[in-house]
Amino acid sequence: MSRFPVLAPLTFGVCLALSPLTQAQDDVKLGFIVKKPEQAWFINEQDAATRLGEEKGFEVVRLAGEDGQEVLSAIDNLNSQGAQGFVICPPDVRLGPTIMRRAEQYGMKVVTVDDRFVNAEGEPMESVPHLGMSGYKIGEQVGNAIADEMEARGWDPEEVAALRITNYELPTAKKRTDGATEALLERGFQEDNILDAPQQNTDTSSAFSAASPVFSKNGDYEHWVIYALNEESVLGGVRASEQYGLTADDVIGVGINGSGAAFAEFSREKPTGFHGTVAVSSTMHGRETAENLYTWVTEGEKPKANTETTGTLMTRDNWEAVRDELGL
Ligand code: GLA
Repeated sequence: MSRFPVLAPLTFGVCLALSPLTQAQDDVKLGFIVKKPEQAWFINEQDAATRLGEEKGFEVVRLAGEDGQEVLSAIDNLNSQGAQGFVICPPDVRLGPTIMRRAEQYGMKVVTVDDRFVNAEGEPMESVPHLGMSGYKIGEQVGNAIADEMEARGWDPEEVAALRITNYELPTAKKRTDGATEALLERGFQEDNILDAPQQNTDTSSAFSAASPVFSKNGDYEHWVIYALNEESVLGGVRASEQYGLTADDVIGVGINGSGAAFAEFSREKPTGFHGTVAVSSTMHGRETAENLYTWVTEGEKPKANTETTGTLMTRDNWEAVRDELGL
């Protein structure tokens, strides 16, 4: 009995001393906002972040931010839930300064994934930690994969057109299609045969709309190759080529990502014009950005930028092995 009065204040004192740290770690809540919540790439990133949260004991709030308004509401929503920060792939990289102002008002930490914020001058916002792919190099892989397959099929470059689906407002997209173009030209592709289809968005339907008129206006080519910033867009181009009457034998489309959209295409009974895709680990992107942000929130260590993620060519022949290797 006589020990109680002594022990109770002691225990209380110990709890008080420990509470700020334990409290901070127990209550960590991080947002993960993506521009295209229905795309397999982004679902996978959010899944990977959520799994990491379950392992480490923090909560991940998954949100959509398909335009500026939706992103700002998502940030308000996170603030009202007591979140300390968020990872974001923004719907428009030029929203960077606006997004940062709102986050700073709430004292939230921000990490970008995939698409890097730009400032008013169009330069990358270096102060915001970023993780993304090595766009130009991965683009070169796309161009070389197309050139290899053209050679394997014995196509005469004079008779081949390229449908280049572009999105020049997004720097990573431009790097990717520029890399592919350079590689193709180095491999002997005819520059005049490259035809542009500027898309308004980064999804299949905007690519389809951009691609359709290019096919109908250029009926003279025997064969087509198709590339874009991602496989969703290449698939839009392939669907447009099918509508125009082209078959898998006349089309070589190579994408980037290696997500569910590609797996579904490779699983079809008959091959389509979607020849392959350079797979990048969306699992790693989701996990690593969430981990970096968590460490920043709990230990105060600001992450460094990483724009070096590389990729592996995935085709109908090896897609399951590559998928497993990349943990997709
Ligand atoms: C952009 C594209 C996505 C995906 C990511 C990967 O956000 O829109 O499809 O390719 O880059 O970094």
